[in-house]
Amino acid sequence: MVRQNLVPENIYRIRHATVMKGIILAGGSGTRLLPMTSIHSKHLIPVYDKPMIYYPLSSLMVGGIKEILIISTSRDLPDFQELLGSGSDLGINIQYLEQESPRGLPEAFIIGKEFIADESVALILGDNIFHGGSFREKFNECRLRTEKFGGANLFGSYVEDPERFGVAEIDSSNNLLNIVEKPNDPQSNIAVTGLYMYDGSVCDRAISLSPSNRGELEITDLNMTYVNEGRAELSIFGDKTIWIDAGTPDSLLKASEMVRMVQMNGGQTVACLEEIAWKMGFIGDNQLRVISEKYDSNGFYGSHLGSLIN
Ligand code: DAU
Repeated sequence: MVRQNLVPENIYRIRHATVMKGIILAGGSGTRLLPMTSIHSKHLIPVYDKPMIYYPLSSLMVGGIKEILIISTSRDLPDFQELLGSGSDLGINIQYLEQESPRGLPEAFIIGKEFIADESVALILGDNIFHGGSFREKFNECRLRTEKFGGANLFGSYVEDPERFGVAEIDSSNNLLNIVEKPNDPQSNIAVTGLYMYDGSVCDRAISLSPSNRGELEITDLNMTYVNEGRAELSIFGDKTIWIDAGTPDSLLKASEMVRMVQMNGGQTVACLEEIAWKMGFIGDNQLRVISEKYDSNGFYGSHLGSLIN
């Protein structure tokens, strides 16, 4: 790709290209989903036919990210490890680290500093589900831009209830001017979604943040360090890309209904990790065959995997 088509030259310093890593933040206490989350992580609750964490993991995989860190609580990490292992079945590498208590989203970059090792990184929140439209194209475009030019690349989506989210203010040329976390009086209806891409300086930026009034490090404060330097871009998804923050009972149900509808009526699968791994070339036919034999071929998932190789 030609550099001039990616970003205006005066915004980003050209740096050595990095290879993007991925972090899934799947800790927290899940209080909005109690009592469902009384004894285990919300990220293991089913969204229709798969555990919730399959969805953010699939988003990183379709973006070609193979080095992935999952951060969760000491209580829940063993469950994630049992579910996903080293990632070798999917042709990826998954590591695990603990967050002692929910001190805020930017702590992912303090805990993950060694894992990131100065490369660029995508953070996705464990309860964020993306599907369809231009998701893959926007992901890849922003991934390339971050790997090559650094800065922060954020993703926006139009919502009816912006006060639940970080809310972006943009000018008429779509430049990102400001972000306010859960404002009472939102200046737009563009929510900043839970997918963020940064250059390697994000770790030092996270370390220098102070907790907000609610005692947490805020992702919006981290993002504003880039906005204030003119080094943050916002890509806004169009109508056809579905984004759901599945962190409340209603949005969790909405997510399940969406996946069911797409799979039943649209003939596509959502977050079928083995299929994605195979289509991305992370695993070959033999490995897919072995995996598909583990599933009951009468069920939708098993028969779908079987049909791919047959
Ligand atoms: O979903 C997008 C929104 O996510 C953004 O628009 C907001 O700017 C951002 O602050 C965040 O808001 P939420 O209120 O949805 O964040 P929540 O506290 O629910 O945490 C999101 C996920 O991160 C959830 O899956 C739990 C996990 N988490 C959260 C915290 C605070 C952790 O693993 N560790 C933490 O310390």
